Amino acid sequence: MLIDEIQKHIDEIKGLQMAQYKDMAAEAELFRIKYLGKKGIINDLFEQFKTMPNDQKKSLGQALNTLKNTAMSKVEEFRSYVEEHQDEAAATDLTMPANFAPVGSRHVLSVVMNEIVDIFSRIGFTVAESVEVEDDWHLFSALNFPPDHPARDMQDTFFVEKEEGRQDVALRTHTSSVQVRVMENNRPPIRIIAPGRVFRNEAISARAHCIFHQVEALYVDRKVTFADLKQTLIYFAKEMFGEQTQIRLRPSYFPFTEPSAEMDISCNICGGKGCNICKGTGWLEILGCGMVDPNVLKACGIDPNEYTGFALGMGVERMAMLKYQIRDLRLYFENDLRFLRQFDAIV
Ligand code: DAH
Repeated sequence: MLIDEIQKHIDEIKGLQMAQYKDMAAEAELFRIKYLGKKGIINDLFEQFKTMPNDQKKSLGQALNTLKNTAMSKVEEFRSYVEEHQDEAAATDLTMPANFAPVGSRHVLSVVMNEIVDIFSRIGFTVAESVEVEDDWHLFSALNFPPDHPARDMQDTFFVEKEEGRQDVALRTHTSSVQVRVMENNRPPIRIIAPGRVFRNEAISARAHCIFHQVEALYVDRKVTFADLKQTLIYFAKEMFGEQTQIRLRPSYFPFTEPSAEMDISCNICGGKGCNICKGTGWLEILGCGMVDPNVLKACGIDPNEYTGFALGMGVERMAMLKYQIRDLRLYFENDLRFLRQFDAIV
């Protein structure tokens, strides 16, 4: 029956909803053409209506008008739906190619620090970390600093005043304090690498900063010799700066090591011929090192007659400067994206 057919269309239209995320405008237009277009369902039904017996025309006419109105208000509903959801649809188009968000990168100091730690961990060193606010014992006394050493001076060290006039708590000036912390709490064999932040009372310039980073290494066991230290240094220098790197040790002095040395590497810029980076010498100073002074072992409760050890410490900023030819220390701390982004590729 025609009347049933009309009713079926009315019910169907009422139940229609816009399919989400598709091309909504086109869907709305297709619907309009299907029902209200020239060759659409409704015109077709009107044609059939003309041929129907007169006694049915009243109810059929009413039903047809209802269908037409229902279809027209659906078209209106679809149009306003499209208008309302246009932005949303654009944002949720699942077929759109992904928009890659810019990814941050590691800071060059972290990159270099991780690299140093990684090199040492390959020969059995494990990471040790400790506090940045230290006491005099761990910073100086246990490390065999004489009472009148300049590092104990306000000029060089940031003291944290606990009580008026009392100067025994300070921001650590070097990571050597971690040596003491570790030796006090562990028995040999000890093989640790300690990366961390250190603080010194320095005016900020291209060559000095009041905050910087060091990596410290300590190896204590029976029969550890200077030869072990030297071999470790050669291994480190070649891993860090390349196979062709040469090292040279110069005698030096640190309160906590005896004998002490400073290590230079052959200039990685000119290959040792002499350039403005190595100031024409062909060598670059890299780190301090030495055999742990027996007094330090003793202060930490380790018998120096049974055990010996070596220690070394280096500045991370300097390592990064040499590796990437960075000329000004301040660049590390300014967080200028033009600087930071140059290390995007190094993870
Ligand atoms: N602590 C020293 C400094 O801050 C660096 C250093 C030198 C560490 C010799 C060591 C070492 O472990 O053996 O300048």
